[in-house]
Amino acid sequence: MSTGGTERVTLNDLIQGLQEDLSREYKAVMSYVIFSQKLDKAQYMDIATTLERHAHQELDHALQISRQLDYYGAYPNHQPAEVRVSEDNETMLRLDLDAEDETVRAYDQRVKQAQALGEWALAEVLQEILKQEQDHQIELATALGEPGSHKIREQRKPAPAGARR
Ligand SMILES: [Fe+2]
Ligand SMILES: [Fe+2]
Repeated sequence: MSTGGTERVTLNDLIQGLQEDLSREYKAVMSYVIFSQKLDKAQYMDIATTLERHAHQELDHALQISRQLDYYGAYPNHQPAEVRVSEDNETMLRLDLDAEDETVRAYDQRVKQAQALGEWALAEVLQEILKQEQDHQIELATALGEPGSHKIREQRKPAPAGARR
């Protein structure tokens, strides 16, 4: 992450953050493309369909972030964040949920950075994306039997900072 808070945030911090967001979106597309097909369909039919929908939404987010980067004169990066895979159904859902938790934290920070810089249109775009990421989070957490936002789940069982790698 490029900067811890919103104090003295620069446009450069914002752009760097958006590049990292884009990398996470690439990773999310790849992960959902794979897991939506690899989840045991007999047991997880509904969730597999949900993951396919997530894949489309993550691609849409990637396009929106890429558009914003271009707007700021930055060349969108082509490096996905590290994709982790598994053959185990619960682990797949867990990996996705952990990734969504991280994504929500990052966009939460990005919205604050955009607002600190008076980039209101960007802040609005990011909030729309954030809304969908929180839906993803809740759907995955519910599938795992741990409903609630990451903040509520973190309160329930104090996890180490950074959670899973
Ligand atoms: Fe996304
Ligand atoms: Fe997501």
